[in-house]
Amino acid sequence: MNSEFVSSVGHLKVNHVTRCRSSSCVRCSKVCGFILLLIFIVGSYMLSSERKTLLFPPYLLEEDLSEDALRDAVRNIATKVKFEARRVPDVSESIGLEKHMFSVIPQHFLPNVKNPCWFEELRGNVSEDPYRSNLFGRSRQIQLIFERLSGSFRQRLRRHDGKLQRLRCLPYFYIIGQPKCGTTDLYERLKLHPDVRLTPPKEPHWWTRKRYGIIISGERPHTRFPLDHYLDLFDPVAIQIQQSLLGNSSSGIITGEASASTMWDNNAWLYFHDNSTWAEPPSLVLDSIHALQPDARFIAILRDPVERLYSDYLYFGTVNKSALDFHQKVCESLRMFDGCLRDAGLRACVYNGTLNNAMTVRLQVGLYVVFLLDWLSVFSRDQLLVLRLEDHASNLTLSMSRIFRFLRLAPLSDQRQRQISRRPASNTRHASDRNLGPMQTITRELLTLFYAPFNQKLAEVLRDESFTWDGRSEHA
Ligand SMILES: *[C@@H]1O[C@H](CO)[C@@H](O)[C@H](O)[C@H]1NC(C)=O
Ligand SMILES: *[C@@H]1O[C@H](CO)[C@@H](O)[C@H](O)[C@H]1NC(C)=O
Ligand SMILES: *[C@@H]1O[C@H](CO)[C@@H](O)[C@H](O)[C@H]1NC(C)=O
Ligand SMILES: *[C@@H]1O[C@H](CO)[C@@H](O)[C@H](O)[C@H]1NC(C)=O
Ligand SMILES: *[C@@H]1O[C@H](CO)[C@@H](O)[C@H](O)[C@H]1NC(C)=O
Ligand SMILES: *[C@@H]1O[C@H](CO)[C@@H](O)[C@H](O)[C@H]1NC(C)=O
Repeated sequence: MNSEFVSSVGHLKVNHVTRCRSSSCVRCSKVCGFILLLIFIVGSYMLSSERKTLLFPPYLLEEDLSEDALRDAVRNIATKVKFEARRVPDVSESIGLEKHMFSVIPQHFLPNVKNPCWFEELRGNVSEDPYRSNLFGRSRQIQLIFERLSGSFRQRLRRHDGKLQRLRCLPYFYIIGQPKCGTTDLYERLKLHPDVRLTPPKEPHWWTRKRYGIIISGERPHTRFPLDHYLDLFDPVAIQIQQSLLGNSSSGIITGEASASTMWDNNAWLYFHDNSTWAEPPSLVLDSIHALQPDARFIAILRDPVERLYSDYLYFGTVNKSALDFHQKVCESLRMFDGCLRDAGLRACVYNGTLNNAMTVRLQVGLYVVFLLDWLSVFSRDQLLVLRLEDHASNLTLSMSRIFRFLRLAPLSDQRQRQISRRPASNTRHASDRNLGPMQTITRELLTLFYAPFNQKLAEVLRDESFTWDGRSEHA
């Protein structure tokens, strides 16, 4: 629709020019053109000097600013970007916040099992269906899995020291982000490795949202999903691991999940801590994961944040989607983010749930390095694999073999490798959205300026220049 619109405008211009030539008004148009040019120069000079006073508070990014003024305003944001180390809370603080979690999950997992698993004492009535009240069962797909699991539940129990026990597992690895960067594609391809078991849902969003009772991002909390409901999701894997244990073989099976909110979404803290001051969250989702699973492994797949934002907008947007609408939302969100940075630090703004819910495009999700530095404040660099979607898409075999090595999985036969690489890409842009065309050049320029200092820092932290996405590296 949009490209049709553009081409019809182009057509009009062509018609106008040819008509002028044919009616011998060339000299006239030269004079007119000169006068118009003069008016334009004087006018834009007056406009820009008038804007100068407006360029400063209250709002840096007025919707009707000239393109140059917009660029200046965005460059001005960069001057306020300061990367500061966070205060890492004590493990005892995290334990204090999540007493139940630490009473359920042991400090040490079974030694002869690669995946983190343990035997949990069964409390309560053995005859009851343990999955009956699981809140994830609201999804029909998960409910069917629970029905099957409850049928075999009693046979799976083992008696130990006079007590009944069940095997429980947590993920060995997490695909932590980012949205619209290829997490679904990774998840689907990883499933094809014989030692990887990934059960639905791909994105439980338990750590960031459901455990706080947030079902849909941006909504207020409702019923909180207990830890046991999350653990139930890994019971199909636990059964397979238990079977290999019974056969006296050590188990190399691993499981994971791919909630693309894990890396960045800490918006829930707003509802559970003092939110009255300009402050940073006292602890992050990653602190809870670290306290429970200090040895877990994490995969983050990233892409040019400018492209990510447009893809995010097209995917999650509903009405009025167009390049112009995107541009307006980008300007509006840049203005809000800039307003926040004037009063608060970078991390306070990135983790400000009120601001994040108010911005009409999710600018903060592309500030990868802010999140990465926080993850690296508790996890070691070799526990995190950071990939670029551009690289993943250009050589799937290479990308998947890096992931298999990172997860300490056995190398695959060539045939299996080919099968995994040839699988068609998952979750690509809808045809209807492709018809909307690319974003406007000015929007791309503003976003590139906005993200540049963050990408620069990211490349520094990862010691890899390709994370600047500055055009010198190839685009896929
Ligand atoms: C256990 O649950 C079963 C099935 O719901 C019920 O028939 C039985 O009475 C319960 N037993 C106890 C001790 O509550
Ligand atoms: C597993 O090993 C234990 C002791 O090492 C032995 O008693 C048991 O019979 C073995 N089970 C199987 C299924 O081989
Ligand atoms: C902030 O905290 C207050 C009091 O704890 C709470 O009532 C309020 O809902 C919180 N803010 C938001 C946006 O939920
Ligand atoms: C978050 O941002 C909102 C709106 O920009 C602001 O009113 C609020 O004070 C900020 N809160 C914190 C904790 O920074
Ligand atoms: C969509 O566009 C129409 C017309 O421009 C406008 O009236 C309406 O408020 C817009 N809706 C949203 C949700 O932005
Ligand atoms: C992908 O990478 C592998 C290993 O580096 C290389 O052998 C292969 O030629 C690459 N394939 C493509 C399509 O670039």
